[in-house]
Amino acid sequence: MAAPSTARFLLAQNEHPYPPPPSVLAALAEAGTDLHRYPDFRPQRFAGIVAGWQAVPAGQVVVGHGSAGVALDLFHTVVEPGDNVVHSAPCFDAYPLFCEIVRAEARPVPLGPDARHDLAAMAGRMDGRTRIVVLCNPHNPTGTVYSWAELTEFFRRVPSTALILLDEAYIDFARGWQGPDVPARIAEWPNLVVLRTLSKSHGIAALRIGYALAEESLAQRVRDHQVPYALGRLQEAGLLAAVAAGDEMARRIEEITAERERTGAELRRLGWRVAPSVTNFLWVDVPGDQRPLRAELERRGVAVRYYPGGGARVAVGEKDANDAVIEGFGAVAPPAP
Ligand SMILES: Cc1ncc(COP(=O)(O)O)c(C=O)c1O
Repeated sequence: MAAPSTARFLLAQNEHPYPPPPSVLAALAEAGTDLHRYPDFRPQRFAGIVAGWQAVPAGQVVVGHGSAGVALDLFHTVVEPGDNVVHSAPCFDAYPLFCEIVRAEARPVPLGPDARHDLAAMAGRMDGRTRIVVLCNPHNPTGTVYSWAELTEFFRRVPSTALILLDEAYIDFARGWQGPDVPARIAEWPNLVVLRTLSKSHGIAALRIGYALAEESLAQRVRDHQVPYALGRLQEAGLLAAVAAGDEMARRIEEITAERERTGAELRRLGWRVAPSVTNFLWVDVPGDQRPLRAELERRGVAVRYYPGGGARVAVGEKDANDAVIEGFGAVAPPAP
């Protein structure tokens, strides 16, 4: 386990740069007076809140310990030892780990040259023992996205014995991305599970609130695999307050996406190849020796995530953090085109 970073600018974990708004903090403080009471045995109230917010039937909602927690519940529900799971490489670190936990064979598929999933290659890796194919859309670590039409073309190639885990952790940053509403998606693709979180766009990662939306009988099976009392009073208060603070959240998303565009444009102007991102982070190609870049960023107090031989993933921070990023990259020669 890596030690917590002491860097001034923490841009290695795709976190929201701002602390929760005062309304969320006040709701948490108030909920603190109830901490001697147990929360719901099953988080039914949570499901009701998410259902109302997302305009989906409550039976389609599975709420859990962050979206990572819900994804693990899904793995426990449908994957048997010896089954396989197809995912991109690199991808969100938890998926290879979940394969180990449930003793599934992980089938990592390298990304395509456009830093997106290589959907054709992923289709070629699926077989009758594939239980889950993971698609992060937008993708972590590259920030790239597929359109709904491109996704459904791929869905047609997924065996009916496999679930499609469409991880939309960053979808709120993808302004303009369009797809049918989730009940319509699930009606057409009953093996689809849409995964979302309040950790990224709503900036309450430490509260650990995520949810999946899926066809009702599948959602019920996953809920049946969850630990009782999984979500507590603070999480419920945080969820309600974060949903109520929707306008403030949207304003922050605007700021972050504007900063993403500015930072990405500056890095490209300096000669770096930056994948087109619709998220709150940027993927910069750093194929060779990453040490000079790392030294320059660290000198400026900037922590980012390095993928040896591939790139650097840089979360969008506040303006001074992004300025430090631009300065750090500017101090190093970019790779030859
Ligand atoms: C693609 C993706 N999915 C899920 C998660 C986990 O988020 P949560 O905090 O909801 O567990 C992350 C976190 O970085 C992520 O990048």
